Amino acid sequence: MKRSRDSRAVVTGAGSGIGQAFAVELGRRGGSVVVSDVDMVGAQRTVDAITDQGGKAVALRCDVSVLEEVRQLADDAQDFFGAEPTLVVNNAGVGAGGQLVGDVPIDDWRWTLGINLWGPIHGCHVFAPILREHDYGGIINVASAASFGAAPRMAAYNVSKAGVLSLSETLAAEMAGTGVHVSVLCPTFVKTNIVSNGRINPSSTAAANRLMRLTGMSPAKVARVCLDANDRGTLHVLPQLDAKVGWQIKRTVPGLYTRAAGLLERFGPLRDEDVDNPELTDLDLTRVEGR
Ligand SMILES: NC(=O)c1ccc[n+]([C@@H]2O[C@H](COP(=O)([O-])OP(=O)(O)OC[C@H]3O[C@@H](n4cnc5c(N)ncnc54)[C@H](O)[C@@H]3O)[C@@H](O)[C@H]2O)c1
Repeated sequence: MKRSRDSRAVVTGAGSGIGQAFAVELGRRGGSVVVSDVDMVGAQRTVDAITDQGGKAVALRCDVSVLEEVRQLADDAQDFFGAEPTLVVNNAGVGAGGQLVGDVPIDDWRWTLGINLWGPIHGCHVFAPILREHDYGGIINVASAASFGAAPRMAAYNVSKAGVLSLSETLAAEMAGTGVHVSVLCPTFVKTNIVSNGRINPSSTAAANRLMRLTGMSPAKVARVCLDANDRGTLHVLPQLDAKVGWQIKRTVPGLYTRAAGLLERFGPLRDEDVDNPELTDLDLTRVEGR
């Protein structure tokens, strides 16, 4: 049975980017969708996109870093559906990077882990027992290729996503043999506004946006690939070739991979010369053609 069809879905961080694409695609596949975010303007825009195509959706505010708000989200979602949810996408997340360990402000560590790691922990803590009880459904945790890539100057983000990878693998083991499929999404670059919305050191903004513009996949394609993978019961979802290649190399020669990543960052093409290029630093990727 395809869990992404005719679902009762909850998507966090669905007011923008990848979360919005998940919500719209789930609506397109016949689902009722709870569009949750802290940004209610974005969330309403997503709801409108779903209802415009004949789907059913509601916008509910929830800060995923606060357990009580996630519990409230589950209650409100059940009221909206008139039944328990069948699919949960723990997607809400923020970007952070550009500084070395020791220079990253402790407040940025706490902020990043609070949303990127505690968000999915809260989501699994609240929703996993509901799905387990009904022995049916899907849980998708949005991690990143950073979960295994461990690129320099991204420590807080990397740590948060490594935690999401481990959480998902643990949950998948616990759900083995049940009707609940767990997937962890590990993309490289996806064309969203995560850089502009996050706490990225200005010296790295241009390089990040340049990479995103050159190599990023569309959020719509990422969402489609991931929902199909969850339907098949796939745990690790690596939607792009560079994510797959990085995953294999890291597993085969982890020490060499780490050293090469460090040297590439220090001496390679990702330098800071574009720091004053407004075309890159002020890029709005929601307006990029073909998204
Ligand atoms: N864009 C990429 O290249 C990329 C790559 C790998 C993984 N990811 C992951 O994808 C997920 C979605 O990011 P995106 O690229 O769509 O970024 P985005 O900035 O476009 O969307 C993130 C959404 O999360 C919401 N949000 C932020 N803090 C929140 C909170 N505390 N509670 C609830 N919602 C909150 C924002 O309001 C926003 O609507 C994140 O977990 C991110 O780490 C993104």
